[in-house]
Amino acid sequence: MADNELFPVAADWAKRAWVDAGKYKAMYEQSVQDPSAFWGEQGKRVDWIKPYSQVKDVSFDKADLHIRWFADGVLNVSANCIDRHLPKRASQTAIIWEGDDPSKAESITYQQLHDEVCRMANVMKAKGVKKGDRVTIYLPMIPAAAYAMLACARIGAVHSVVFGGFSPDSLANRIQDCDSQFLITADEGLRGGRGVPLKANADAALKTCPNVKTVLVVKHTGGRIEMAAGRDVWLHDEAAKVPATCAPEPMNAEDPLFILYTSGSTGKPKGVLHTSGGYLVFASMTHQYVFDYHDGDIYWCTADVGWVTGHSYILYGPLANGATTLMFEGVPNYPDASRFWQVIDKHKVNIFYTAPTAIRALMREGEAPVKKTSRASLRLLGSVGEPINPEAWLWYHRVIGDGRCPIVDTWWQTETGGILITPLPGAIDQKPGSATLPFFGVKPELVDGEGKVLDGATEGNLCISDSWPGQMRTVYGDHQRFIDTYFSTFPGKYFTGDGCRRDADGYYWITGRVDDVINVSGHRMGTAEVESALVAHPKVAEAAVVGYPHNIKGQGIYAYVTLKTGIQATEELRKELVQHVRTLIGPIASPDLIQWAPGLPKTRSGKIMRRILRKIAENEHSALGDTSTLADPSVVDDLVNNRMNRG
Ligand code: PRX
Repeated sequence: MADNELFPVAADWAKRAWVDAGKYKAMYEQSVQDPSAFWGEQGKRVDWIKPYSQVKDVSFDKADLHIRWFADGVLNVSANCIDRHLPKRASQTAIIWEGDDPSKAESITYQQLHDEVCRMANVMKAKGVKKGDRVTIYLPMIPAAAYAMLACARIGAVHSVVFGGFSPDSLANRIQDCDSQFLITADEGLRGGRGVPLKANADAALKTCPNVKTVLVVKHTGGRIEMAAGRDVWLHDEAAKVPATCAPEPMNAEDPLFILYTSGSTGKPKGVLHTSGGYLVFASMTHQYVFDYHDGDIYWCTADVGWVTGHSYILYGPLANGATTLMFEGVPNYPDASRFWQVIDKHKVNIFYTAPTAIRALMREGEAPVKKTSRASLRLLGSVGEPINPEAWLWYHRVIGDGRCPIVDTWWQTETGGILITPLPGAIDQKPGSATLPFFGVKPELVDGEGKVLDGATEGNLCISDSWPGQMRTVYGDHQRFIDTYFSTFPGKYFTGDGCRRDADGYYWITGRVDDVINVSGHRMGTAEVESALVAHPKVAEAAVVGYPHNIKGQGIYAYVTLKTGIQATEELRKELVQHVRTLIGPIASPDLIQWAPGLPKTRSGKIMRRILRKIAENEHSALGDTSTLADPSVVDDLVNNRMNRG
């Protein structure tokens, strides 16, 4: 794709959008030149119980690392997402819920949201949950997930949402890591017509979590489950006993709002910690400007609340802005490949935000499922989670948006809390495949391997040289890991882990991770996690996992496995290993390909040369580079000769 293939901002967009090109330039300049003045003003977009007098208090110096925004301000996030809208919007729909079953939908007004959140907050209080306590949420995409998160925010508890697709083991690890003693789950989830046994998974997880005293269970499908006496209670029973009002807890801007676990290049998933004030200001501001949200718009983000996109752009950003946000329980291809577009017509969705993997999967089904719907309500399209290939971008634009809707390709991370690099639809011309330019207050830098800042059109490691209010504050329980992971590779800067190219127009093109993290269908997966799951199998001696290009998923999981001496490599064992990883981590971690490796390429000091394994998986044998430093160069020939066909 040529760098100069432009999709210019349409005249009507420049006119009606919150920000046009001139305003973007002026605001961006101010935001980076005088961040305290800029954010001091922007911070007023949320309601403060006690206004802040300080704005920015940040040091990226690893000897004195601290990140504080609006530090002496006091607010409550749930009051900002609910109560302050009530005078004007009590009867406006806050959440449209669309069930997995197309005959099921619900509209929840701001008043109803208030009452449900207060009830759940009161139930939690009655069960002993206090400000600062961690609460784990393991729920399907149902309104109760939003109630649970906001109820935590209301009473100052710190939520940790665990994606419903994670296994009992993964759930247990996350409960233990933050020592949460209260779990909210449901009988079952429902996806594509099939039940997800959430309560049964939770029961299995809790075998190793003796500190969990209470499990609050939401009745969703009515499926049969076990209830442990003295521990498990039904939400509907408890909610009937408490009032529908609950005073919001005054919270300091830097009090934790949530923990969200995410994969890194090494070790166990990290508990990314976000705080209250800066996060909310940033989520709400980015939601308004990036999606050009105006009063009355119907907005739909297809993510799961188990990921950061669901936190910031289904829940906190939209609700802080008094929006109507759609929450979808199902999957894109159930009952058929037209589902997304039917939901758009049914609820008259104006703004639609999804992941490239979904677009690529639907693109494969051709135009017919799209063209039988109108999509006339659509005005703006968004993309998130992984690089969008220009072909998918163009299809999204031409077929889904009928050539009429701008596309915002939004680059960000769990750690960043909100969108950092993106077009603003009324201000920035789009190029298919580029996340374009930085949002207000964001200073991207590309650096080489030695940390030298590169100028002009170039390619390098993507760093951000100064803080923004939505930035994570620490790794829960391990501040040193926070410093080591993000501020040590390139001292004085936040290192994203992504590679990136900047073109002659200053546009940013994310090229993917440069560390041992892979991105499978927009889900982040640490190769080390999959490896440790594989070696936990009694027949496996050693394993190395890398990503490889996959037509639909973006990246697939390619595992090289060395079996213990005397173990036969069979098709059956291959299936068993895949199942084993699914059981230990969850279906999203299933290896796509497993290659039996009699040996792995290692340096003489025993380090696995992943660069070589990546090249073999990518089918780039000619680019293997220097293999002479390997302890046993002959293993490479064997791996190349027996490479798995990617299909
Ligand atoms: O590699 C980048 C990719 O997803 C990573 C962050 O993953 P996660 O924390 O799970 O958050 C996903 C949703 C924000 C990034 O390091 N990524 C995310 N958005 C884009 C992207 N890569 C390219 N283009 C994007 N728009």
